[in-house]
Amino acid sequence: MLDFKQEIAKMISKTIDMNENEIKEYIETPKNLEVGDYSFPCFRMAKELKKSPVEIANQIKDNIKIDNNIIEKLEVLNGFLNIYLNKETLVKAVLQEFDKQRENYGKSKIGEGKNIVIDYSSPNIAKPFHIGHLRSTVIGASLYNIYKALGYNVIRINHLGDWGTQFGKMIEGYKRWGSEYDLENNPIDELTKIYVRINELCKEDKTVLEACRENFKRLEDGDKYCLEIWEKLKNLSLKEFQRVYDILGVSFDSMNGEAFYTDKMPEVVEILERKNLLKESQGAKIVDLEDKGMPPLIIEKSNESTTYATRDLAAILYRSRTYDFDKCLYIVAYEQNLHFKQVFEVAKLLGIDKKYTDGLIHVPFGMVRLKTGKMSTREGTVIKLEEILNESIARAKKIIEEKNPDLENKEEVAKKVGIGAVIFNDLSNSRIKDEIFDWDDMLNFQGETGPYLQYIYVRTNSIISKIENIPNIDNIDIKQLTNPVCIDIFKLAYLYNDIIVQASEKNEPSIISRYLIDLAQKYSNFYNDNKIISDNAEESKARIYLTYMVGSIIKSGTKLLGIEVPNKM
Ligand code: ARG
Repeated sequence: MLDFKQEIAKMISKTIDMNENEIKEYIETPKNLEVGDYSFPCFRMAKELKKSPVEIANQIKDNIKIDNNIIEKLEVLNGFLNIYLNKETLVKAVLQEFDKQRENYGKSKIGEGKNIVIDYSSPNIAKPFHIGHLRSTVIGASLYNIYKALGYNVIRINHLGDWGTQFGKMIEGYKRWGSEYDLENNPIDELTKIYVRINELCKEDKTVLEACRENFKRLEDGDKYCLEIWEKLKNLSLKEFQRVYDILGVSFDSMNGEAFYTDKMPEVVEILERKNLLKESQGAKIVDLEDKGMPPLIIEKSNESTTYATRDLAAILYRSRTYDFDKCLYIVAYEQNLHFKQVFEVAKLLGIDKKYTDGLIHVPFGMVRLKTGKMSTREGTVIKLEEILNESIARAKKIIEEKNPDLENKEEVAKKVGIGAVIFNDLSNSRIKDEIFDWDDMLNFQGETGPYLQYIYVRTNSIISKIENIPNIDNIDIKQLTNPVCIDIFKLAYLYNDIIVQASEKNEPSIISRYLIDLAQKYSNFYNDNKIISDNAEESKARIYLTYMVGSIIKSGTKLLGIEVPNKM
């Protein structure tokens, strides 16, 4: 598609001593679109050119040879050169590109040949899949879609928490009270009860805590009895997790969890030892990170059992060799910021190629809070994700029953709406923000929600289903689409690919969420003020095509978030 920024940069470059691509970098989209479609700030070159920003902006304005096909007019405002595009050219460019690409509009191939590993979801075996893991799952799944849309090769890894001292505890609890609990029918709830109970006992009795640590050590040494219990707990848990993944429509390329790295950790210890990086501290082996301003990273505990961090280091080695990644993203709550900072630092010390250590990225996100406060497995105050999803579906169903009792496939629509609401709620704000869970907000059909996007899509779809053929763009009178409201929609449509790229660069699906809400609201305003299909054939044709395009982008964008749209609701 026509690259307006590039064209503008080309014109500007002929008036000042600065190269085209650098100029392009500087060109921005003003927050307030009333002051122009693009803006070139002249502050940074003021010093070098020994002129005020206003003078520079005027100099460009006076000397530039405008291609009227691209630029409609220029204005100087407070050191900015504001640029207004030729509206017809904009509309035409978008229409042509969209018409060519249709459901692929916005996608590209910039990632071809590059490998992205995404480590996400990663719940812990024998513990509930809770609302905190939902965020990781939903963000990770969306980033997968986003990178895919840009042509990257993406590897989805569920780094299951299936190893570690908590298994020492689970095994101890299971040994003591396993037969008292109904593990077959309700495994995770019952295992959670055991886990809460054994934790309490550990607090009271240090010898029990010691026994738990010992169990994990035995597990690592391959003790048959311990391994058998571990295997059993793992299979019971995976079955329950799979139910949630099925509801969400999420899948993985690898389920290699922490246990997978048992036999890969000695290499890490060996390298660290060889490089003289391991220190003894109270019987444990640590890597000192004081000069990096961080606490030491424990590689081996005093009873020789390994740690979460050591497994992450082994995983980095393994993933660099297996996937030759350009980026390896860890979608994990910000609570683990320090963990990843330490691990990435030690990965460098290990001597792993810079290509890989540069690509290690912790993608943190905020906590999910209930109105009553934080959740913790240890205290047993957890809401299970499966319950949340089912509750959301039930609530969506109730709303549909009230609003549209005759709708066909109510179950299916309720499922899309209920799950869409939960997913969108998770992705609607910048991920680092804590999220408060509120049913009424997230299911509000008029708010900035998943159901709202679905509702606007359904409106576009209902118009499109009334007509026989999508109009041919060659027969569309462009002037019908150059009024301010339509232009705003076309400007957004023009930016769609840019938005996807930005979302990938910042690993931030909310960039797409915000964009879609903006697009849907603008279209909704247009729809409320204008008849789409009227007696005026020229007008109708143009507006139908606009409707079709907006619906298509909403559908494609929500899909990037992991949300499906119903055809009716
Ligand atoms: N299982 C961990 C947890 O629930 C998350 C694991 C994240 N991935 C990783 N490679 N450390 O907190």
